[in-house]
Amino acid sequence: MTASLGLGAFPNTRLRRNRLTPWTRRLMAENALSVDDLIWPIFIMEGEGQESDIAAMPGVKRVSVDRLAAHVEAAAQLGIPALALFPATPPDLKDAEGTESANPDNLICRASRVLKREFPDMGLLGDVALDPYTDHGHDGVIRDGYVANDETLEKLVAQALNQARAGIDIISPSDMMDGRIAALRQALDAEGFINVGLMSYAAKYASAFYGPFRDAVGSSGALRGGDKKTYQMDPANTDEALREVAHDLAEGADSVMVKPGMPYLDICRRVHETFHVPTFAYQVSGEYSMIMASVERGWIDHDRAMMESLMGFKRAGCSGILTYFAVKAAQLLRG
Ligand code: PBG
Repeated sequence: MTASLGLGAFPNTRLRRNRLTPWTRRLMAENALSVDDLIWPIFIMEGEGQESDIAAMPGVKRVSVDRLAAHVEAAAQLGIPALALFPATPPDLKDAEGTESANPDNLICRASRVLKREFPDMGLLGDVALDPYTDHGHDGVIRDGYVANDETLEKLVAQALNQARAGIDIISPSDMMDGRIAALRQALDAEGFINVGLMSYAAKYASAFYGPFRDAVGSSGALRGGDKKTYQMDPANTDEALREVAHDLAEGADSVMVKPGMPYLDICRRVHETFHVPTFAYQVSGEYSMIMASVERGWIDHDRAMMESLMGFKRAGCSGILTYFAVKAAQLLRG
């Protein structure tokens, strides 16, 4: 048994021999992180010449559309394959139905048109969910005090078509409504967008780690301490994640996502091993903040903590990672 696992006994076998030098360690490495694994989420705001800091996310900015090309230039030069776009919608454009999500001139659409023109080889992911656009901060529309599934689907379809028409390559629904993948696939195909992809936030948990993001897009105040537990998953569950993924794949998802990332590496591994499909993880805002807060206190080393956290996703079987560290990690990887 032990022999078949390659486990000889000490002292004939000394596992430290493989770790002796940099070149042996490189040779023996089981996983590798590359720039090709990174998706960079960015925040877009209204106005001209605008850049604003996000208090809980040191080093992450919201930028206005006219500043986007400059903001993204380095990422493009480094070869980061794709961006994920998120809007910080001004409060006066929010309403109970998230109407702004279907406006062909909303922030995402304007950003998409600029980015496609300036960086035609860079992939664009469009997040589909109503929360950046609703005055109550929920991902869907509310009927009788409940985030209504089927009415929300219609809004998500309109939002996704709006993004596809503006050039978004991959629609990435983060709303956790049932049946959204089928509804989106059908609507995209009906309008001829057969090559617009679907990366589903399939296993998305009701998590405390989204806090800084909600500040970044201005949805936390709107949510007024409410939670998303009737649609996002219970952190206690893992079989349910497989069921969610199975549904989304059956409905036509091209790839799936697990979110948050670091506290859910077990889910990444199970999804990858069960379905053998491209599996992504979102290292969310709170995970970034947690590392950056420790770095700022001098408690951990920025580069090493960043790279170690990203390698964890590769070890868990992920094809790629949505991470606010994308540019800094790519710079390190390119040496
Ligand atoms: C919107 C959405 C959220 C995130 C991505 N898309 C927040 C939420 O569901 O409340 C979180 C990303 C992050 O925390 O970095 N549905």
